[in-house]
Amino acid sequence: MMWIIIPLLMNLFIETSVSLTVLVPGDPIVAPVGSTVILPCWISPAESAEALEIRWYRHDQFNNTVLLYNHGKIQDVQEESYRNRSSLTLRSDQSGGLKDGDVSLRLEKLTLQDEGSFHCYVSGESAYGKEEVVLKIKGLGSTPVLIPKLLDDGRVNISCRSSGWYPEPNIKWTSADGRVLHPGGSSHSLGTDKMFSVHSWMAISHSDAHLVSCSMSLRTGELQESRIDVQAIISSDSSGPWKALFLTFLICALLGLVGLILYKYRDKLTGTIWQNDFIIKISNLIYPKSCHFMIF
Ligand SMILES: *[C@@H]1O[C@H](CO)[C@@H](O)[C@H](O)[C@H]1NC(C)=O
Repeated sequence: MMWIIIPLLMNLFIETSVSLTVLVPGDPIVAPVGSTVILPCWISPAESAEALEIRWYRHDQFNNTVLLYNHGKIQDVQEESYRNRSSLTLRSDQSGGLKDGDVSLRLEKLTLQDEGSFHCYVSGESAYGKEEVVLKIKGLGSTPVLIPKLLDDGRVNISCRSSGWYPEPNIKWTSADGRVLHPGGSSHSLGTDKMFSVHSWMAISHSDAHLVSCSMSLRTGELQESRIDVQAIISSDSSGPWKALFLTFLICALLGLVGLILYKYRDKLTGTIWQNDFIIKISNLIYPKSCHFMIF
């Protein structure tokens, strides 16, 4: 009988006294500003954590406590910035919770200051284990606002603005057929809320592209995009100086043509009832002085 019991006891002794293995996900956890996140951490192989000390802390400082569970309950020793935001939770629906060694942390109302590593520390009578979970915060900015401004040369200067980004987004201008367009300039600025605001602009003519899109995206793939119809802006500007100038030119050209025809056939006309200088007077009358600049 003894030769079975002794190795079994030995095994039990080794398991409980030498180490307590704590596991966490290998990849960083990414979550948006303002959301609630679960930082998974569990004991493996599963054993009850109900009688253990569970400590979540930050900045490599044991006393920078996010949450402390000890003597069977949460202790009121956490840092002010984590008060009413942190609790123990289940890492998945299948988890058995504390009695199965799940010591995952739930953190609410995430702020940019929560970015970084969190230490998960679990300690028993004679063994402890600890691991680190990295949290990355992201901010998906507002839908870009596009403001077109007609330039003197007939192009449109399109300005694209968006705010509330973290980290800095990528800016991309494209045409409807998928070509990448190069902006005239882009700038990032950091607001008081530590979030990035972005401004980018490009001057475009309607022959460059008809439909232009300005998109901003995070490395994690989230994207905000707005489109604008350059063609429509240029043609809707019918009251602008270009159309007026064109109409003046057209009228002058027509009047000039009439004058030229009258002048050319003056012999035939004067042969009948009309006088030569009368024709010239008429031509001058028809063709206003204001049109002269068109010719010379
Ligand atoms: C286009 O507008 C932006 C401001 O939105 C300005 O900084 C830039 O100089 C303008 N570009 C041109 C070519 O007018």
